[in-house]
Amino acid sequence: MSAGILFPERASDVGWSVDLLFYSLLAICGLVTLGVFAALTIFCVRYREGSAAPRQVKDRGTLWFEITWTSATLLVFLGIFVWAALVYFRMSKPPPGTKEIHVIAKQWMWKTQHPDGRREINELHLCVGEPVALVMTSQDVIHDFSIPAFRTKQDVLPQKYTTEWFTPTRPGKYHLFCAEYCGTDHSRMGGWIYVMEPGPYARWLAATDAGESAVAVGARLFQARGCAGCHAPNAAVHAPLLTGIYNRPVALADGSIVIADEQYLHDSILLPNKQVAAGYQPIMPTYQGQLGEEEVMQLIAYLKSSNGGEEAKP
Ligand code: CUA
Repeated sequence: MSAGILFPERASDVGWSVDLLFYSLLAICGLVTLGVFAALTIFCVRYREGSAAPRQVKDRGTLWFEITWTSATLLVFLGIFVWAALVYFRMSKPPPGTKEIHVIAKQWMWKTQHPDGRREINELHLCVGEPVALVMTSQDVIHDFSIPAFRTKQDVLPQKYTTEWFTPTRPGKYHLFCAEYCGTDHSRMGGWIYVMEPGPYARWLAATDAGESAVAVGARLFQARGCAGCHAPNAAVHAPLLTGIYNRPVALADGSIVIADEQYLHDSILLPNKQVAAGYQPIMPTYQGQLGEEEVMQLIAYLKSSNGGEEAKP
């Protein structure tokens, strides 16, 4: 359904919840503005020069009136905050097992990779009705992955993973924008999201070469880049075993416990001294500058798959 000339059409399941919040804020602000202007007009007319309206100050007790309107306003705005937070959390926490698509931003393009290995540049093909979670990071500066028709907009940060998920609900071709100023060609950093019916989507899958899956590339990198030399079960070096580590609690040398999520695995590869596992020497070399963000994502995909596909609960 189109939301009128001022808005792009709504093409995802989160679209309505964002629009409803926006229209409610617009209505509340509109009512307050109308009230202020009505009072302004009334006072201008009533107290115009020469009118007989009484002007002497009377001392009225207004304490309860003040308390009532202040707390009512506070409650309304706290309510809006809670409502918006619920919408936000809904969009940022995908249910386990949601199809994951890797998004890597760089000056000035979007690289996407499907779980089966299929890659696209400045394009993303999705199947209508199929939920997807985007796991995103940047290779250089801050970008922002924004699809107005889906009402989704999420900053994409270097050294950090951000996630958003949604279900496309309408077949079509939708604009993708970078919504954070990121340098000279920021305004050109965009592309298209193609939402297809299951039939044409299957034909698109069949017509394009998937290549190697992220898990397969990750497994290869695990051997080729020497991770296996220390972290495999039969390794000579005393290093944490990584099989099944994803989403498990890890005890750190400083006594704290973290969950081995994507961010922890990412940082352990690129910033190994940030969080050292308890009982191990900080001897792991950093892979900063040697592995790109795409390769780190593939390694993590491999480590996640070594859970046997099941997502362990923390
Ligand atoms: Cu990337 Cu603006």
